[in-house]
Amino acid sequence: LEPDQSGGSRPVIGVFDSGFGGLTVLKALLRRMPAARFVFLGDTARLPYGSKSRRTIARYAAESAQFLVNQQGAQFLVIACNTASALALDAIQEAVQVPVLGVIEPGAAAAAQNSATRDVLVIATEATVASHAYVAACRARGLRGVEKACPLLVPLVEEGWIEHPVTAEVVRIYLSEVLDVARAAGQSPDTLVLGCTHYPLLRAVFQRAVPEGMRIIDSAEAAAEAAARLVADQVSGQAAKPFDGLRAGSGAPGPEIRCFATDSVEKFERLGSRFLELPVGMVELVDLGG
Ligand code: DGL
Repeated sequence: LEPDQSGGSRPVIGVFDSGFGGLTVLKALLRRMPAARFVFLGDTARLPYGSKSRRTIARYAAESAQFLVNQQGAQFLVIACNTASALALDAIQEAVQVPVLGVIEPGAAAAAQNSATRDVLVIATEATVASHAYVAACRARGLRGVEKACPLLVPLVEEGWIEHPVTAEVVRIYLSEVLDVARAAGQSPDTLVLGCTHYPLLRAVFQRAVPEGMRIIDSAEAAAEAAARLVADQVSGQAAKPFDGLRAGSGAPGPEIRCFATDSVEKFERLGSRFLELPVGMVELVDLGG
C-alpha cells in the first residue's frame, strides 16, 4: 500500500465504468472513504456497453482494468458498470491481480435484505438483462426476480432530461410493463433494483412512479458499502500502521481523484459533475485502442 504523509497507508482504489455514469458509484465511495485515493476510468470511446456482446464487453473491460491496475497503481477495483459486472467480472478478475468487486452481488444482497415478499424487480441495460446475472444472484439468495431492459433511460439521462415529462412517462411505462409480467407470474414484488449506473439519477422519478411501499435499491450505494468493507479489511490486515483516512477527520488528507476517459473529455467534465455532484476537475484522455 502507498504510504501517506502520516506514515499510514492510503489505498488507491480504481473505479471503472463504460462512461461517466459510474461516477454515481464514486460519489457513494467518497462518502464512505473520503480520504482515499481514487482513479476513475470511463471508457467513453466504446460506450455504450449495454447493447454489445459478452465477448466485446469482456475485452473492453479487461483492457480498462489493466490500465487502472498496471498504469495507475490501483490496489482494488470497483466495477461500477452493471453491464461489465454482469458479463465480464471473470474476465476482469483474470486480467488483473488485485481484488475486484462488481455491483451485481452487492445489489442482490441489498435486495435480499429489503424484500419481505421475496419478489423483486430488476431494471438494467439489454446486455445485463440478457445475462440474467441479477436474477441468478437474487435466486441464490432465495428471491424471485423479474427483469426488464430499459434502453431509453441511459440516453434520456445523458441528455439531462431528469425532471422531464417524457422521462417520467417512459419510467411509468417501463414500470407498468415489468409489474404486469411479475403479477402475471403470481409474484408480489416489493423491491425495485436500479441495475444501471445511470438510474440512480432518476431515483426521485422512480420514487414517484412505484406502487406505494415499494423499496428502491441503488446498486451504487450497495456496492460502495461492500467496497468500503473490503478495503478496510484488507488494509487493516496488511498495513503496519492502519490507514485511518477512510473516515474524514482532522489531520486526514482530503480525497484525491484522477479521472480518465477514452474520448470526449469535455463532455465528461460537463456531465460528470452532474453524476458526482462535485466538479470532476481536469479529465485526462487515454487511448486504449479500438
Ligand atoms: N454503465 C452501463 C451500466 O451500468 C450503462 C451505460 C452503457 O450501456 O455502457 O450498465
